[in-house]
Amino acid sequence: MARKIIIDTDPGQDDAVAILLALASPELDVLGLSVVAGNVPLALTELNARKICELAGRADLPVYAGCDAPLMRKLVTAEEVHGKSGLDGVELPAPVMQLQPQHAVDFIIDTLRREPPKTVSLVPVGPLTNIATAFDRAPDIIERVQEIVLMGGAYFEVGNITPAAEFNIFVDPEAADIVFRSGADLTVVPLDVTHQALTSRDWVETMRKLGPLGQAVASWTDFFERYDTAKYGSQGAPLHDPCTIAYLLQPELFTGRFINVVIETGGAFTTGMTVADWWRVTDRPANANFLRTIDRDSFYALLTDRLTALDARLRG
Ligand code: RIB
Ligand code: CA
Repeated sequence: MARKIIIDTDPGQDDAVAILLALASPELDVLGLSVVAGNVPLALTELNARKICELAGRADLPVYAGCDAPLMRKLVTAEEVHGKSGLDGVELPAPVMQLQPQHAVDFIIDTLRREPPKTVSLVPVGPLTNIATAFDRAPDIIERVQEIVLMGGAYFEVGNITPAAEFNIFVDPEAADIVFRSGADLTVVPLDVTHQALTSRDWVETMRKLGPLGQAVASWTDFFERYDTAKYGSQGAPLHDPCTIAYLLQPELFTGRFINVVIETGGAFTTGMTVADWWRVTDRPANANFLRTIDRDSFYALLTDRLTALDARLRG
């Protein structure tokens, strides 16, 4: 029986690869995409989500627009990383599929209330505004969540948007605080892990040799690699969001610890920091499976295998 998931997303090229990996994997049943403002404003993230679905041959997959701003703060976006469209690197056609009329938060609440308890996992790969709003509006759904596997936070790797904070958490720290305090089963894929999952030229060229889907992945990577290679001087860029899907598919590729993680929401310099008690020096109860390592080569082997198969199916 395929595992039911909702991907909460702010596409973003790496979100796009995560969505493609999920749609390429028969182990997963993607019930829908709930979209949030993040990398770029909501009007663009929801458009990008629909473009990605059509690229994957999934115009049937429901896409729901959610929150267009953080709970209590002004939206901070990341066009410098993802481009003005949020999906720069390749021009995809305007989508034909329509956006669902229901708000993403209502979709999340209704789905969790409809499906049997502990059978739907949430995979947030953007700011946590939609998830926190759903939990705040319908606390009864929290115990019905099977697991939350989110991309966000940083500890050993420190921040990428400020010296202390990772982007997804920084954009809406109050939302992150609600999610991390919720009591739901939580696995966190931080920059500590995603910065080990760097792309390589060989991998990009392998994608480019495929059909339109692989070529789009190659062009997106060409685009967003330029920011990280310039910033970190690294060869290749971290493929953040697909690491969450890989964890669902092959958790054995990762290691981590069940520890306490709290969110700084009031720091003069540290707002949005995930304060991970890795060495268990406090008596704060553990609340998160905080990942630390990834088997990078096996991750890319999985990604290549699944995207190649999906690309081939689409070419018929
Ligand atoms: O910090 C990386 C995260 O911020 C990724 O989810 C990326 O898509 C951006 O949303
Ligand atoms: Ca994202």
